[in-house]
Amino acid sequence: MHATTPSESESDTNRGTRRESWNADRTATDRALLDRDAQVYLKQSVSTPCLTSIAGAEGSYLIGTDGTRYLDFHGNSAHQIGYGHPRLVGAISSQLRTLPFVPRRFTSDISVRFAEALVEHAPTGLERVLLTTGGSDAIEVALKIARAATGRFKTLSFWESFHGAGFGAASVGGEQLFRGGPIGPLLTGTEHVPPIGCYRDAFGPGHRADEPHTEECGRRLAKLIDYTLRVQGDVAALIAEPMRAVPAMAAPGFWAAVRRSCDETGTLLIFDEIPTGLGRTGRFSASEHEGVVPDLLVFGKGLGGGMIPVAAVLARPELDVGADWAFGHYTHEKNPVISRAGLTTLEIIDDEGLVGRASSLGELALERIRAITESFESVGDVRGRGLMIGIELVLDGDARTPDPDLAESVLYHCLRRGLSFKTTMGSVLTLAPPLTISDAELDQALDVLEVSMRAAIDERNRR
Ligand SMILES: Cc1ncc(COP(=O)(O)O)c(C=O)c1O
Repeated sequence: MHATTPSESESDTNRGTRRESWNADRTATDRALLDRDAQVYLKQSVSTPCLTSIAGAEGSYLIGTDGTRYLDFHGNSAHQIGYGHPRLVGAISSQLRTLPFVPRRFTSDISVRFAEALVEHAPTGLERVLLTTGGSDAIEVALKIARAATGRFKTLSFWESFHGAGFGAASVGGEQLFRGGPIGPLLTGTEHVPPIGCYRDAFGPGHRADEPHTEECGRRLAKLIDYTLRVQGDVAALIAEPMRAVPAMAAPGFWAAVRRSCDETGTLLIFDEIPTGLGRTGRFSASEHEGVVPDLLVFGKGLGGGMIPVAAVLARPELDVGADWAFGHYTHEKNPVISRAGLTTLEIIDDEGLVGRASSLGELALERIRAITESFESVGDVRGRGLMIGIELVLDGDARTPDPDLAESVLYHCLRRGLSFKTTMGSVLTLAPPLTISDAELDQALDVLEVSMRAAIDERNRR
């Protein structure tokens, strides 16, 4: 493949052949809005062309302009508490009436309470906070803190990872779509190693998530990381998603080994929990599954309840080294409406027991998906934690050749039956419902998935 041709990414790239027949079925009103969107917005991969226009969002559903209700298992991973949570709508409305804005240099009760609540929820020891209005910015703030604290500038991160679209975030990211073609040059000193994951272990035979983990899975990658950190001796930070949103999990013990390598080489460990945080994986932070505490951790996406954009960097107190410099200083840094949205979201997650719910519903969903897909030869792997689940489709079980065509077909079958999700890396059906989803809605979605997978496979077989 030519280096300027983007490879498969974490999202659907809108280049599939089935888009045309989907477009042809849109209503006139929908079509008109899609055309106006295409006329006025700059085009960019993944975001455009849009699938359809949306007129409402409530609970687990997106509601199309044409009235179609989609159970939303995509939500940009920002809908942990579902859409339009009434408690959050009420809290934001009342905040707008009392204290709508605070310029930088001032503080407020609500912004302090939000930061304190974040510290309470984060892994122990991460006691300092800086807020931004987006995940990409928060990643870059974390990188600047790591530079300031270590006096080093290099980073180590993972190919295929995504950390945001800013120049710094894209530099540590490993997705060609955000780094290649016309986008560079990027930051220097941003080195990469192959991605985590056992089904597609870059250094081993690989295995399905439901098979016993081999001794080798992850070990060679951990060794490569250890070697890379030691041979240079001047890497400021290793930055990674502890569990990838693709999804992919590291082998047991992998992160503990990486933590040791970081400690022994003076490298800071930054965990990007932008999609995995806030209970999505069945723990508040995905890093809790690994028993590893990073030096810096970033939350984002659903932190503003899917209504307000906000992200947060949390750091150990010793990393509070930037008093003389400006690492973020964003206009809406301590915006009280943002803080109210963040604090109320954390309260909703606690009060509704959403972390536990993600864990138990996730187990049930995984079990049911494994049962549904047992007989499908096209399913190479089913994996996930909590309500972040992936079904990887392959042409050939042994060779594990990705099957993006079948994945796309399943996606459109599901969309037509009112279930929305995204495919990642072309061939992984990636399911991330709201953590507030009801048992009945989850059942309904899995029914749709089963029927759609059968329909797509039958269609393939008839060809
Ligand atoms: C792992 C990860 N990091 C960073 C980001 C960037 O966040 P934002 O889109 O808010 O800039 C994302 C967004 O998808 C993400 O998934």
